[in-house]
Amino acid sequence: MTCVVVVGAQWGDEGKGKVVDLCTERASLVARYAGGPNAGHTLVVGGEKTIVRLIPSGVLRPDSRCVLGQGMVIDPAVLVDEIDGLTRRGVERVQERLLLSERAHLILPYHVLVDGLREARASAIGTTKKGIGPAYEDKARRLGVRAADLRHPKRLRDLVSTAIAAWTPVLLALGGEVPSVEAILETLAPLGDRLTPLLGDASRAVHDAIQAGEPVLLEGAQGTLLDIDHGTYPFVTSSSAVAGGAATGLGIGPTRIDHVLGIAKAYLTRVGGGPFPTELSDATGEHLRTVGHEFGSVTGRPRRTGWLDLPALRYAARVNGLDSLALTKLDVLSGLSEVALCVGYELNGARTKELPVDELDSAKPVLERFAGWQEPLEHARSISELPRAARAYLDRVAEFVDVPITVIGVGPGREASIVLADPFA
Ligand code: GDP
Ligand code: IMO
Ligand code: MG
Repeated sequence: MTCVVVVGAQWGDEGKGKVVDLCTERASLVARYAGGPNAGHTLVVGGEKTIVRLIPSGVLRPDSRCVLGQGMVIDPAVLVDEIDGLTRRGVERVQERLLLSERAHLILPYHVLVDGLREARASAIGTTKKGIGPAYEDKARRLGVRAADLRHPKRLRDLVSTAIAAWTPVLLALGGEVPSVEAILETLAPLGDRLTPLLGDASRAVHDAIQAGEPVLLEGAQGTLLDIDHGTYPFVTSSSAVAGGAATGLGIGPTRIDHVLGIAKAYLTRVGGGPFPTELSDATGEHLRTVGHEFGSVTGRPRRTGWLDLPALRYAARVNGLDSLALTKLDVLSGLSEVALCVGYELNGARTKELPVDELDSAKPVLERFAGWQEPLEHARSISELPRAARAYLDRVAEFVDVPITVIGVGPGREASIVLADPFA
């Protein structure tokens, strides 16, 4: 087993960062394949917290190489800031260990501007306002600026001018100002100087590592229910977050992927708008938010919280082809007198176990209730150390989703995990 995809199986923030960091004890190359600085992946090592946005979560392992794939959208200013921030905190050779795909598209100031202006309107969907949607729009309408263009000042000027001309009517209609081409190029020049030495062929780097038999980890961002094709459209992000996105987002064939590890919380959260059938607006929802520190790692927004939705998780298992599941934050459920799992929905007077495409907002969850447990779990390192009620809960999840649970998260720290099987084994 050499190539493993780690993919979010819910609405993001499942704990991908922690699991990737845990797995990179084995992986020598970690590659991000989708999204941009809308991601916030938290790593807690030796009690110290680090949040990465664009750089893969393997960066804290001093020997791992990190690739930013062409499926990503890169804000040059955020990337340079992130490199410098990690370096200041003592992470070794960050710049030297990074490869930025020449084909990755850039997020430029007009993308951020448009995202912010749209979010100020009634039709807002609650984006992270990092320019993600507009940057992917430019890519799809073939007006994007790619990282490779940073090498060519004349071409860069033409591309930025053309894109700004195309965005001008939109900016004006939204009541915004049109940024100047000169100002953008001036800011971009020093960032380009920093980033051009990192440019390379991500597809070749990942391919070569796999061919050499190195353990390779492909790190997802966002989650299945935020995927542009498979998520709760239109309340989604603009990239292919699912496991299949790893193949296109890095330029490798699907035949090169050996294992897909899905990450889900033991409950459910969502940031931003959109349907959420199991959402809790009571004291239990508040328990999950407070005990689980459910506040966005990018925007600081309080995350919406609710019970684990098993039909949605089974759907994620299917569209990603999950081989195994990491269930994080089981410790957060400690202290509740009762816990519940959603096992279906009531919709238009009938029951269904399938995630509805177009009526999720009117689906009422069918809940199965379980006895809770009071014991803290943070020190558990094996299944036998978990309370009987917690084991019954896990068994029901694995049975419904029909995917083995191989990692259980019992705390934010790298070590606070029960690992039942190594995805690289
Ligand atoms: P990501 O975007 O999927 O990487 O997830 P985030 O980092 O945005 O959010 C997950 C949060 O849960 C972070 O604060 C992690 O430190 C924390 N976390 C991850 N796994 C666990 C766990 O098993 N237990 C607890 N209590 N916290 C966890
Ligand atoms: P990680 O990788 C949680 C959500 C936003 C919004 C929608 C669209 O940390 O799990 P966008 O800015 O992408 O256009 O916003 O997607 N969203 C996330 N929610 N975790 C994320 O990333 C997210 N990235 C985007 O809140 O609802
Ligand atoms: Mg996150």
